[in-house]
Amino acid sequence: MTTHGPVTPGPARLVVLVSGSGTNLQALLDACADPAYGAVVVAVGADRDGIEGLARAERAGVPTFVHRVRDFHDRPAWDAAVADAVAAHEPDLVVSAGFMKLAGPAFLARFGGRYVNTHPALLPSFPGTHGAADALAYGVKVTGATLFVVDEGVDTGAIIAQRAVEVLDDDDVASLHERIKVAERSMLVESVGRMVRSGWSVNARRVTVG
Ligand code: GAR
Repeated sequence: MTTHGPVTPGPARLVVLVSGSGTNLQALLDACADPAYGAVVVAVGADRDGIEGLARAERAGVPTFVHRVRDFHDRPAWDAAVADAVAAHEPDLVVSAGFMKLAGPAFLARFGGRYVNTHPALLPSFPGTHGAADALAYGVKVTGATLFVVDEGVDTGAIIAQRAVEVLDDDDVASLHERIKVAERSMLVESVGRMVRSGWSVNARRVTVG
């Protein structure tokens, strides 16, 4: 069993990793504006330039860094560089919020147990990069969002929280994913807040917050 926090003194330091529009990041930035939330986003990292997620960080005055896989000679070198960049900001918790890259061994060695990822499906169903599309194609009537502690697998880590979302008859991938993201943002904000304020423990596959 590993136990973390509550993070004291002062607000918990979050580093958020993004690859796209960053609406989950924005939800965290908005929540962190209230001191009672108990956290502050100290840096935002990305694997690509020119994304709205980075623009959101810049507008909020949050430092950013970008490490593109193709700028490194191999994946382990990229992974180590991302781990170094994250570590430089001394995070209490690292949040993958639409970061479309898998963490490697160097990253997990440093942040294992305090690296969480949000996914647009009810895991273990529909892991990978097309959670909403895969659920729609399968024909499930209920899907949702999952927050989990990242491990070495693809979306296999211990589950922190889940929210169910109904699939409507006239949904396409965009409408379904947008509805999932509404639930996902509130799940992320609520769960991260509870984690940093109350601490959490991971015992095999069971995560307990508080
Ligand atoms: C979110 O729905 C997140 O779950 C998903 O990307 C979206 C990012 O939205 N991540 C994955 O699919 C990871 N497998 P955002 O950039 O607006 O926060």
